[in-house]
Amino acid sequence: MAKDFSESFRELNGRFIHLLDSFSALSALSSLELRNVDEPTMLRNALKGLMQNLDIETCSIFLLKDGQLVNSTGLSWDDLVNGEEASALKTWDSSTLTASIGEGIMGLAVKNRALQHCRDCSADSRFKEVPDQEIGSLISIPIFQMGGEVLGVLNISHTKPHFFTEWHERFLSVYCHCFGQLLSNYRLLNHMELEIERRIEERKKLEAQLLHAQKMEAVGLLAGGVAHDFNNIITAITGYAHLLSMRMDADDPLRHFSEQIIASSERAANLTQGLLAFSRKQVINPQPVNVNEIIMRVEKLLRRLIGEDIALGAEICDRELFVMADKGQLEQIMINLATNARDAMPDGGELTISTGHEEITDDFIKAHGFGAPGEYVCVSVTDTGIGMDEKTREKIFEPFYTTKEVGKGTGLGLAIVYGIVSQQNGYITVSSGPGEGTSFRIYLPAIEGRAEEAVSEEHVLPASGSETLLIAEDDDDVRKFDAAILEQFGYRVLTAVDGADALRIFADHKDVIDLAILDVVMPMKNGKEVHDVIQKIRPGARVLFTSGYTADIINRKGVMRGEFEFIEKPHSPLELLKKVRDVLDGM
Ligand SMILES: Nc1ncnc2c1ncn2[C@@H]1O[C@H](COP(=O)(O)OP(=O)(O)OP(=O)(O)O)[C@@H](O)[C@H]1O
Ligand SMILES: [Mg+2]
Repeated sequence: MAKDFSESFRELNGRFIHLLDSFSALSALSSLELRNVDEPTMLRNALKGLMQNLDIETCSIFLLKDGQLVNSTGLSWDDLVNGEEASALKTWDSSTLTASIGEGIMGLAVKNRALQHCRDCSADSRFKEVPDQEIGSLISIPIFQMGGEVLGVLNISHTKPHFFTEWHERFLSVYCHCFGQLLSNYRLLNHMELEIERRIEERKKLEAQLLHAQKMEAVGLLAGGVAHDFNNIITAITGYAHLLSMRMDADDPLRHFSEQIIASSERAANLTQGLLAFSRKQVINPQPVNVNEIIMRVEKLLRRLIGEDIALGAEICDRELFVMADKGQLEQIMINLATNARDAMPDGGELTISTGHEEITDDFIKAHGFGAPGEYVCVSVTDTGIGMDEKTREKIFEPFYTTKEVGKGTGLGLAIVYGIVSQQNGYITVSSGPGEGTSFRIYLPAIEGRAEEAVSEEHVLPASGSETLLIAEDDDDVRKFDAAILEQFGYRVLTAVDGADALRIFADHKDVIDLAILDVVMPMKNGKEVHDVIQKIRPGARVLFTSGYTADIINRKGVMRGEFEFIEKPHSPLELLKKVRDVLDGM
């Protein structure tokens, strides 16, 4: 009786201890740190918790990778006692320890989706030896993901055969079920955190890019508006100054003043052109251009520009690189960038220009926060100069932003580059740091094709004429100037202040007007509309369009460049006279 009682008591006590072990092992599992730890560390921590509560000698986790069970982490009792994590790494973290599904005890646990218990390994044909390990008994339990898919196996082993009991089997099944959920949660959590971080980064970049683009757009609108009015004023100033000069004798003492006016207004015209370029309102003549050719052509000029202390290297891509662009504008970009590089290298250095072909992919767009997918030609301009800090870098494309002394820089160089690149649907990036030099990369949409051979322009002196011209122009200064200059050269000039006025005058003088010079953008009726009515009144009547707006707006008004005669504003008197003569002579 007493013996029965003491056996029952021992058995109950044993069960009680098992229960306590189970609770402790599960509670160690539930308090595992899941955040800010890498997966191998998290797995090892889980094994530690298990070993501290269970009488096992070694345990390991093998996870499935590409259909193979690969050793992920392992721990032995010695490691735990000696605190030798390094030896645990040595013993277990060997990726050479692998098993196929269905192979050995572990492989069977995965294949059968059920716990496998090898009570006496030396006598069990399913058991596959592990190098440097003495294993008497072994249990492999599949670890299930939340959806039921097998993630891997947990193995526990002991040197003694028949060491593990039914309780081990029952408990480890429960433990592995919980562990599988935990591992799934861990992976989900980390994936989500990474994804959230990535998205926040992406969003921040997009927002910054959008803000920058909006700011540039607003400044561009303002600059464009001012520049457009300025353009007309400067056309008039330059024109009258030219008229003054023409009327003066060569030795007139006042001649110097009128020439100064011309020189200054030319500088003002250049500035205005810069603003128009920035606000993408410059009249351009896009055509297929071989970028490599342009770079090679401006190389000589750039060499002279940057001086002897700076070495210029050009890395031209073997492939032919064509873009739709205005040649003059591309040259302007190179000159502006090289000038800046020169200023950034007062004691000499290296300037490298390279060309290449690049694809803008979705990854590129995500990384940069801008871009439209497609094939691009990329030109990079890199210097070894003083570089810039982030604050400067953020502002460099704004018009009039300069860090140079008064009188040294206007702050328009990069604004012009930005405007030109945007006008051609391209992108520009800059990477730079103080003392680290600067690298600009320009992306322009690539096209297939070849440039037409450039036609060299011969210089023709303007001849006078006696024909009757109609000038329709709403800007008083421009109209009066153009009329004055043409009258000077013998033409008879009729003037109209808007589209409706132009039509009235044309109808009254339809048989004598040899050429109508029409501003594209005018009140009442635009240039194209006037042209269309004129053609009805007198089919074949000659028309010359003029505008200070971009090809864009002109196209929208229905005047396609190339199809009609066109002269941009501002124009010099010589340009106007030559153009009028050419059109009248049908050249
Ligand atoms: N390669 C470069 N290295 C270092 N800083 C640069 C470089 N390029 C531009 N910057 C900085 O950007 C500013 C703006 O350049 P941007 O070309 O627009 O104007 P600028 O050179 O100052 O004047 P401008 O070109 O009108 O004569 C410069 O003043 C300079 O601070
Ligand atoms: Mg500059």
